[in-house]
Amino acid sequence: METELLLFLHLLGLSFWIGSMVLLVILLLAVRRNLTSWNGTPLFLWITRLVTRFLNVAALVVLVSGGGLIQMLGYTQASKPLWIKLMEQGGGLTLLLFIVVMTWFGNRARKQLRAPQDPARSDVPKWMTRYSTALSLFATLAVLVLMVVSFRVS
Ligand code: HEM
Repeated sequence: METELLLFLHLLGLSFWIGSMVLLVILLLAVRRNLTSWNGTPLFLWITRLVTRFLNVAALVVLVSGGGLIQMLGYTQASKPLWIKLMEQGGGLTLLLFIVVMTWFGNRARKQLRAPQDPARSDVPKWMTRYSTALSLFATLAVLVLMVVSFRVS
């Protein structure tokens, strides 16, 4: 029962994490294109808060449930197939880097953009590009790990 619950949490966290990253990249690119006609700062700040409060939690759920599954299923260093090792190490590193890098990015962006800005020389487009690039990089890494797991690479 506990194993099924952990697998459910693992897959639920994963769906929210990857799905939200893809959606936010699309949203940021769409908003960036229309920035001349309106100020996108409040929406961008809202997205950074969403990532630190919600996506970081989803990433943590995937990491902790994955660790729990390794224990429950009794995998030892010798008995782990290659796809499990790649998921544990590659996936674990991606998740940890996501939490650290996106938290740092969000804090820096919020600090700079909260100061009053001249709309004509705003830093928002620059931050949106950086932020969506970082998000798409993490989404790509996550999908690569997902491929390794689906194909049971051995
Ligand atoms: C980007 C990160 C990750 C992705 C995309 C991912 C994906 C998946 C998927 C799709 C499954 C279901 C596989 C199946 O039942 O056939 C799974 C199961 C599992 N995951 Fe992950 N995972 C990730 C991170 C992690 C991490 C960090 C750990 C360990 C610390 C982990 C440990 C496990 C374990 C032990 C299972 C159960 C394997 C089994 O049924 O034998 N995963 N994962």
